[in-house]
Amino acid sequence: MKLRSKLPNTGVTIFTEMNNLAARYQAINMGQGFPDFSPDDRLIECVHEALLGPHNQYAPMGGVPALREAIADKIDNLYGRRYDPELEITVTSGATEALNSTITALIHPGDEAIVIEPAYDLYAPVIRVAGGVPRYVQMTVPTAERPQFSVNWDAVESAITPKTRIIILNFPNNPTGITIGQSDLDRVERIVNAHADILILSDEAYEHIVFDGEDHLSLAGRPSLAERSIIISSFAKTFHVTGWKIGYCCAPPHIMAEIRKVHQFTVFSVPTPLQVGLAQYLNQYANTALLSPFYQKKRDRLAKGLADTRFKSLYSAGTFFLLMDYSTLSGCSETEAARALTEHHGVTAIPVSAFYDDPESDKANHNLLRLCFAKQDPTIDATIDRLVNVETL
Ligand SMILES: Cc1ncc(COP(=O)(O)O)c(C=O)c1O
Repeated sequence: MKLRSKLPNTGVTIFTEMNNLAARYQAINMGQGFPDFSPDDRLIECVHEALLGPHNQYAPMGGVPALREAIADKIDNLYGRRYDPELEITVTSGATEALNSTITALIHPGDEAIVIEPAYDLYAPVIRVAGGVPRYVQMTVPTAERPQFSVNWDAVESAITPKTRIIILNFPNNPTGITIGQSDLDRVERIVNAHADILILSDEAYEHIVFDGEDHLSLAGRPSLAERSIIISSFAKTFHVTGWKIGYCCAPPHIMAEIRKVHQFTVFSVPTPLQVGLAQYLNQYANTALLSPFYQKKRDRLAKGLADTRFKSLYSAGTFFLLMDYSTLSGCSETEAARALTEHHGVTAIPVSAFYDDPESDKANHNLLRLCFAKQDPTIDATIDRLVNVETL
């Protein structure tokens, strides 16, 4: 039987390839974004208690009410918008399912979605499976004067056509570590105000990891943007539980009603004990304000160590990723550099080119590798010990 693939060009992702390579060469895996330390014991206890209690049957489709309330409280406290837990918040199977259900619900065949590259690798395939067309806009690449990626809003505006349905934003950004400022939001506001039918999908999975005293600017915090935005976040990065796959999305009722139609036939609901435990943890113990200083120390430890190597670190304003430039060591492609670093030097990183539609193209290759610093200090130190000795790739 001949199958017609919906994603004919999608193979094994670079994350899987690099993880396999890391295992084969016993490299320190600074590639994929997950912590190598445990979550708060009290969170485990909350979920354990929920497992022992009467919380092991289907949760309501939109999520356990106590968790939706806790999410509404958190967003209200931090960003000043009160989402209605009943109609405007849905607990999802990670940010992944929130993104998938949102894109599936909102994109019709032939619709276009603007994706700002480098971009998290999920967006484009899901747009394609929905029959839509990703319209790529490249960020401005770092220079010696401005060693950070930045969004070219003129290019975003120019990419809009009558078929554009959504613009996908992701700040703090994976993989670049850039954040969004008030002037960016002003610009986004002007762009969408001129286009009545365009919605914004704002992936804020790293909302609680923003450095150097800056605040995360959620699109929930701007009424004119919140009215046409779907805000997506995840507990994975916030509470060091990437394996739990639990997140949420928030949107005005008429948008959320459509997203829930897909959500209910994708997973229906999310594991009840996780929801009950997280609700209790959020209400009693969680202090998300501690996360940024926690990760800032790790970012600084890694950046300080890199200063003694031939790699150059780029400034990371948020997330638990930092980019390092290897241009003084080699002119090879980023994929080749990542492979060589694992095979010959025992450190695994992810090529930033993997976050572009065409990873082998020139526009995707800027001699940059992404390191994840959600690692214990000895892991970061061991990475530096290896990188110090690298003279060529
Ligand atoms: C930008 C971004 N969005 C979404 C996700 C997926 O989050 P989750 O693990 O909650 O599905 C990730 C995970 O790496 C991410 O980096």
